[in-house]
Amino acid sequence: MTLVGIVGGGQLGMMLAEAATRVGIECLTLDPAPDSPASRVAPAIVGAYDDERALIELAAAADVVTYEFENVPVASARFLAERVDLFPPPESLEFAQDRVLEKTLFEEVGLGVAPFSPVSSKEELSEALDVIGVPSVLKTRRLGYDGKGQVRLASVEDAESAWRAVGEAPSILESLVPFERELSILGVRGRNGAAAFYPLVQNIHREGILRVSIAPAPDVSPELQATAERHALAVMERLGHVGVLAIELFRVGEELLANEMAPRVHNSGHWTIEGAATSQFENHLRAICGLELGSTSLPAYSAMVNLIGSVPPEGSFGLDPEINLHLYGKASRPSRKLGHVTIIAPDPITRDRVLGRVTRTADNHG
Ligand SMILES: Nc1ncnc2c1ncn2[C@@H]1O[C@H](COP(=O)(O)OP(=O)(O)OP(=O)(O)O)[C@@H](O)[C@H]1O
Ligand SMILES: [Mg+2]
Repeated sequence: MTLVGIVGGGQLGMMLAEAATRVGIECLTLDPAPDSPASRVAPAIVGAYDDERALIELAAAADVVTYEFENVPVASARFLAERVDLFPPPESLEFAQDRVLEKTLFEEVGLGVAPFSPVSSKEELSEALDVIGVPSVLKTRRLGYDGKGQVRLASVEDAESAWRAVGEAPSILESLVPFERELSILGVRGRNGAAAFYPLVQNIHREGILRVSIAPAPDVSPELQATAERHALAVMERLGHVGVLAIELFRVGEELLANEMAPRVHNSGHWTIEGAATSQFENHLRAICGLELGSTSLPAYSAMVNLIGSVPPEGSFGLDPEINLHLYGKASRPSRKLGHVTIIAPDPITRDRVLGRVTRTADNHG
């Protein structure tokens, strides 16, 4: 049986390991926490991501290694890649970890981005403000997630406090996009270069954290879908990417601007577990193991609601057949993703009605 090593044991690793059981693949995870979500469903090595002994143990046991978060040290990825097949390749990590490299790559493949400028000092920030203006957002180049490491500027007077707020770390200043909607495109590319895409998803964020995904995104023309796929394919080909890749997009009229990418399975694809013929998790495993990709068609209408900070008491969501509750077994903490609910419905009206009820329940308990 093929054994896939997964660097990271969070909920994404857990859902990868769950999908693996259905395609006859075994998983082994590496995570510093002894009680990681993935350790509930697959064996785990407990160790730091830069612990060479742990990395050697993972490489020796696995046929293929992958990762479930993009802040794996690139040095660790290269160390692994010298010993075992590692997908996606270290290049995907390298580009996704640095907002300047990432945006430059988007521009190279013809995918627009908001005007931006790299900033590495207070002086460079005021120069960048002269060009980019306000409203804008200052983001650390590296290590941001769930809206952490970023601050908005409404006036040039905010420069000083914004620079402090990002910890004076190398950053980028980018123009605030007056988007109509946020979308994401999830693609998957196999070892033989074959690629498949899920329909565009609409994403709604709250305080910088993904709250709701709706699939397929409403009001998407075949042309818009084709444009998103063409750009995502170009990004994957440039990186030699193998596995799932997600690109977060802003929709402004019929134009798409890229925000950022994740070289891994993505929160805006959790609905695929019940809502697509093949889930993003299974397709990621298929891709990295050299298997044929599964169908990305949708038999129904889906929505996903993240459970953030706390989980409503058992039974709160009812036993509706449309409702699928996933809990990650993590301790409650403000702003932490603890689980999600996927709604599967035969039509958009039913989906939106159940979505309204689920979001109210998620918001109003406790
Ligand atoms: N330039 C922008 N214009 C408008 N809104 C923005 C801009 N940049 C970020 N946002 C808003 O903040 C959210 C989070 O931003 P971003 O994806 O860059 O941060 P992150 O911390 O890396 O998040 P993630 O959890 O997706 O990794 C975006 O989804 C969007 O809602
Ligand atoms: Mg994001």
